[in-house]
Amino acid sequence: MGSKKYTWHKVAEAAEDLQWSPGEIAEVLAGDVKVCLARFKEVWFGFAHTCPHAGAPMTDGYLVGACQVVCPVHQLKFNLQNGGKDVNGEGYRLKTYPVEVREDGIYVGFEEGGGFFKKWF
Ligand code: FES
Repeated sequence: MGSKKYTWHKVAEAAEDLQWSPGEIAEVLAGDVKVCLARFKEVWFGFAHTCPHAGAPMTDGYLVGACQVVCPVHQLKFNLQNGGKDVNGEGYRLKTYPVEVREDGIYVGFEEGGGFFKKWF
């Protein structure tokens, strides 16, 4: 298996530039795609702006436990560490994106040829 290649988008100069507080969900633009960011301890996670169940805005969700985000509408809970699988066993998967904190800013990666993200996510 080859390693995945990503196109990286700078979304902020630093965490202080985000409209965000620890324990909350930030919304950023990666290119022209809205993406949510959350940080657990010192690890950042990127995930889709829209819930895969019925399209709720994940920025209105909340964070719980070990790297999980809860949708605000029907409370499906997604684990950001295992690729966004729902922990309720419903079979939904919240699209996740890698996040890198570099010296010059925070970057979100879109898998090249992955084709799973769309502008409306
Ligand atoms: S819209 Fe998110 S769980 Fe239903």
